[in-house]
Amino acid sequence: MQVAISGRQHKISLAELEVLFGAHNITSIGTYAAIVNTNKPLPQDILGGTQKTAKLLTRLEGSDLPNVFSYLQKSLPEHLQYLDDGKLQLGVSVYGFEATRDWLLKQTLILKKIIRKSGRSVRIIENKSEALESAQVLYNKLTSSMGMELLLIKDGNDVIIAQTTQIQDIDAYSERDFGRPMRDTYVGMLPPKLAQIMINLACGTDSVHTSTISKTKLSTPDSQATNTHPPTLVLDPFCGTGVVLQEAILMGHFAYGTDISTKMIEYSTKNIEWLQEKWKLENGTWKIENGDATTHQWNFSATQSTNANLAVVCETYLGKPLTHLPAKQQLDQIIDEANIIAEGFLQNIAHQIPSGTKLCIALPAWHLEDNTFIHLKLLDHPTDLGYNRIDLKNATKSDLIYHREDQIVARELTILEKI
Ligand SMILES: C[S@@+](CC[C@H](N)C(=O)[O-])C[C@H]1O[C@@H](n2cnc3c(N)ncnc32)[C@H](O)[C@@H]1O
Repeated sequence: MQVAISGRQHKISLAELEVLFGAHNITSIGTYAAIVNTNKPLPQDILGGTQKTAKLLTRLEGSDLPNVFSYLQKSLPEHLQYLDDGKLQLGVSVYGFEATRDWLLKQTLILKKIIRKSGRSVRIIENKSEALESAQVLYNKLTSSMGMELLLIKDGNDVIIAQTTQIQDIDAYSERDFGRPMRDTYVGMLPPKLAQIMINLACGTDSVHTSTISKTKLSTPDSQATNTHPPTLVLDPFCGTGVVLQEAILMGHFAYGTDISTKMIEYSTKNIEWLQEKWKLENGTWKIENGDATTHQWNFSATQSTNANLAVVCETYLGKPLTHLPAKQQLDQIIDEANIIAEGFLQNIAHQIPSGTKLCIALPAWHLEDNTFIHLKLLDHPTDLGYNRIDLKNATKSDLIYHREDQIVARELTILEKI
């Protein structure tokens, strides 16, 4: 059993795990974690929606937080004999409980005293809030053989105790976002984590098998499958600055990007060349060309020559960025324009892709003051366009709207399958 601590939008994290491991292998815990029924470590580096992965140590029935700390005071010294000698870095994160910093510090200092008594030196990582931040876990090396982050996770009346084994590499994500030579905040770039989630939602288990480790530092749970599984050709017909292409390449897929703007084609190309240089990647895994997604004819010869599956992952035209809701007439115009482009694209590509092809598309949705969203009209009739909209067990369609409170234009992650 493995534990996954969710990112900012728990349901989106669950959706990603569901497509990778199967709905029957995922159990949601509160609004912050999931248990994944697998003995292999989770592929943290390709999980955009999972902040930490951990191994489940034990479950305490009917427990509350003070009881859990009493349990740790008794059991921790025994557990430490399995760790390497030397100074231990120890941190504790709690999920689903309210606990003040001071109270947590008091508890961790008691643990420190007990560990010291057993003859080990130990340094405590102090909480800034209930859960340690990714940076604290990463920089204090709590997932190394000399570190330990204990996760105390409320699951109904029980408490799960888990130990963090992997943490999202926030520096690598930041480099792949802000370190790229060409960026354009006006077009609305996808965060790399979200691009990974979308690639996983479209490619499913293929992503787990193809991610390349040695050159990209990405890990796979099944190294035997790494070389044998054919990559997927990930097509982004609205590639912009190329975030989907970049993440697809790092996940071991072929990437094919098109965009109506010659400027964006230049940006994507420069960014992927930068990626190739920086991560020492081989040639021939990507192609970028100019094209209007509503009329373009894509050349999928790479899929035919390598038996690669095809998946379409993109963020369509979102309309202009908005800092406040415009008057109704203006908003209607923006929505119509975005709908015409997205619908025109879906109609155009429907004749070019095989039945069963999966698409994960971020469509714009506008966040209204009453906390509802305006959706694109095409979502009322996807079957007329040649697609079934896919339902997931762990997340409803509206759970898959990616947004921040202060944003007007949200991204509605829409999973389609060509009929
Ligand atoms: C929201 S941006 C995509 C940004 C991209 N995901 C990234 O991370 O950089 C939408 C892109 O769609 C492109 N676009 C707009 N209309 C298009 C059309 N009809 N065909 C192809 N691309 C189009 C724009 O040039 C823009 O780059």
